[in-house]
Amino acid sequence: MTDEFTTPRTVEEMYGESDMDWDDAVSLADRSLDPRPRTSLYDTFATLGVGEGGYVLDIGGRDASQALDLAERFGCRVLSVDPVQANIDWGIENIAEHEYGHLVEIKLGTINDIPAADDAFDAVFARDMMGHVADLEGALAECRRVLVRGRAMVIHHVFATADLEPKEWNRVCADLALIPERLDAEAFEATVEQCGFKIESIERIGSEWLEHTLEADDGEKRLLRAARLRRDKDRMIDGIGVSSYRGVLGNTVWTIYRMIGKLEDRVYVIRS
Ligand SMILES: C[S@@+](CC[C@H](N)C(=O)[O-])C[C@H]1O[C@@H](n2cnc3c(N)ncnc32)[C@H](O)[C@@H]1O
Repeated sequence: MTDEFTTPRTVEEMYGESDMDWDDAVSLADRSLDPRPRTSLYDTFATLGVGEGGYVLDIGGRDASQALDLAERFGCRVLSVDPVQANIDWGIENIAEHEYGHLVEIKLGTINDIPAADDAFDAVFARDMMGHVADLEGALAECRRVLVRGRAMVIHHVFATADLEPKEWNRVCADLALIPERLDAEAFEATVEQCGFKIESIERIGSEWLEHTLEADDGEKRLLRAARLRRDKDRMIDGIGVSSYRGVLGNTVWTIYRMIGKLEDRVYVIRS
């Protein structure tokens, strides 16, 4: 899309008379395009038809918040699995306090070593975690092992677009513990199919979830935060340490890239 804009504009075009002035252009861009909310992921999950009595794996579930949402919305049982002990401890607290906590369990594990029997689940839910997976073939084979044959996975994942420069790609992956190859959509789709899954649908969410959040929240601070993190780098690192600094800066830049189209959110339904 941006290729058509590579021809340089003239100074006359830039500053001279035009048929649209700045205020008109800005007011056009200030109108909502009715972006989908993040909860559209649950609408996609609903198409799988899993309800009460169903058993779902939320892989890379961190603090079990999505697992609890799934239990509340669909009445299903959910196992949340995550490799980080701090997330498991956090999840145990969330589950204990939640009205639907009796339907949710959390266990330590990875997508390559899921603590569950063969054919255990009616669906697998994977939100924003595939980027961390070094062995994608092994991970998908393990998901197939625990899924009842013929059932599906809903995967939310963020991919690089043609606008993400190689240096930006490597840097943001290094800061966020992501595997650079995972941001390649074509390679991801090829691996999914090689592993015996059929891609049933692809929703290109792009920036919509973030637009929806920002339209509801006037207090968006990410651009300001990125500027301050860069300008006061040494003092911030003294205060919070290099690892936290990289995490906050990487996450802030990641979100900005998703907003400006260097990264693209997508939701896949793949069937075993
Ligand atoms: C960006 S967070 C997303 C958490 C949650 N799914 C959500 O959408 O809020 C990524 C999660 O993936 C987990 N993770 C990292 N490597 C993983 C692996 N190999 N298998 C399973 N989960 C993993 C991390 O511990 C973290 O909780």
